Amino acid sequence: MDKPIGVIDSGVGGLTVASELMRQLPKESFIYVGDTERCPYGPRPKTEVMQYTGEMVRFLLAEDIKMLVIACNTATAYTLRELRQELDIPVVGVIQPGARAAITNTRTSEVGVIGTEGTITSKAYTKTLKLINEEIIVHDLACPRFVPLVEKGRVTGSEAYDAIYETLEPLKRIREMDTLILGCTHYPMIMDLIQEVMGSSITIISSGEETAREVSTILSYKKKLYRGDKQPNYQFYTTGDANIFKQIASRWLEQKINSVYEITL
Ligand code: DGL
Repeated sequence: MDKPIGVIDSGVGGLTVASELMRQLPKESFIYVGDTERCPYGPRPKTEVMQYTGEMVRFLLAEDIKMLVIACNTATAYTLRELRQELDIPVVGVIQPGARAAITNTRTSEVGVIGTEGTITSKAYTKTLKLINEEIIVHDLACPRFVPLVEKGRVTGSEAYDAIYETLEPLKRIREMDTLILGCTHYPMIMDLIQEVMGSSITIISSGEETAREVSTILSYKKKLYRGDKQPNYQFYTTGDANIFKQIASRWLEQKINSVYEITL
């Protein structure tokens, strides 16, 4: 079907999901909205995250999207259920795909989850993991220092390493944990440093890959996959600075991204 997929995040984090969509669904077009101006969502109250997410969704509905991907764990934790009830297009979040991948991977049944304060306080991962397998032991930790680093593009070097090392200290002491879920779509951009700090015995799960697989399955099941031969079209909208967004997007998506537009929601 010749309509784009809508992708939303509080900023650049959802690009980690967008890159998997491009890889797994190379014929599909998408429109991405990042609410960079109001990022981070993590420390905000639920009502505010619901309002801001609703504004991004309304913007995308006016663009006639065929499906919505909430490429933000905080927004998924707070709004997925409501949006699924309200909208008449399929809505996919990032929590269930990540939880499923972690359950598939763990051998010790002890799984770590890192995310924003909002995601961790909501216990959305713990509930989802235990719904699949109630024996799973979950070690969760909020990492409020990570998103600002990523939004500023400071993803390497000693400032990033120190913040990650100091924050993850409590998780490093848990001996039986063998799997760590990156419960925030910004974190894959600092995944190498997280792996270095946690050590090679820990498998790191990023939900982008699983989420894109779910999008693909749903579009195929609903017969909404694009079957034409036009090149895909990618459009990016940010409530923040288009140039910073462009730089991060071009680096992360490994191609020159020019169509970035500034909007007010
Ligand atoms: N990337 C988002 C997430 O997955 C939100 C980060 C933030 O805005 O705090 O939770």
